[in-house]
Amino acid sequence: MKFFIDTANLDDIREAQALGVLDGVTTNPSLMAKEGISGKNNILKHYVDICNIVDGDVSAEVISTEFSEMVKEGEALAELHDQIVVKIPMIKDGVKALKYFSDRGIRTNCTLVFSPGQALLAAKAGATYVSPFIGRLDDISTDGLNLIAEIRLIYDNYGFDTQILAASVRHTMHVIDCAKLGSDVMTGPLSAIEGLLKHPLTDSGLAKFLADYNKGN
Ligand code: G3P
Repeated sequence: MKFFIDTANLDDIREAQALGVLDGVTTNPSLMAKEGISGKNNILKHYVDICNIVDGDVSAEVISTEFSEMVKEGEALAELHDQIVVKIPMIKDGVKALKYFSDRGIRTNCTLVFSPGQALLAAKAGATYVSPFIGRLDDISTDGLNLIAEIRLIYDNYGFDTQILAASVRHTMHVIDCAKLGSDVMTGPLSAIEGLLKHPLTDSGLAKFLADYNKGN
């Protein structure tokens, strides 16, 4: 399972990279705004800064909603750095853009996916990654994890190689549940990754080992 961090915060990205388990980064316009990054040039520079910190894939989102504009914007994003994956929203022109990029070997991440039908379309169009937003489904009393299970079943039925990238992951249990369901990737905050570390028996066990060692020294 690949671990992506879902942030535009460079300190969090560095921290996750330093842990040695990071496979990539996802961002979106809201996450950029949260870090105070605005204006086209600043946003493009920020993508390059992120690519220079991590080894893996970095999703960069188009903001156009019309096919030819998406193509222009996506090609420019892909040119920025070879780690860039072009993030395309699940709308009609987005599906056309997924197919366009897939035919040209440009990697894509289809975002804002909330149903198995949308995920099926993304795979048919050749998306590299599909991003079901599980947290936002949970927010409206719908089972986000069930969507991961449904997409896994559909993709496995037909051998689609589009990777399921569980997005809008909010906490550590989402990570574990996505792993159980066979999600290829999860993207979440640093806290969701670091939460995997925690167990009180690890802490008390280590405290005892160190105390016993120190008794004899
Ligand atoms: O990866 C998608 C993500 O950025 C959305 O997360 O927490 O705003 O639903 P959230």
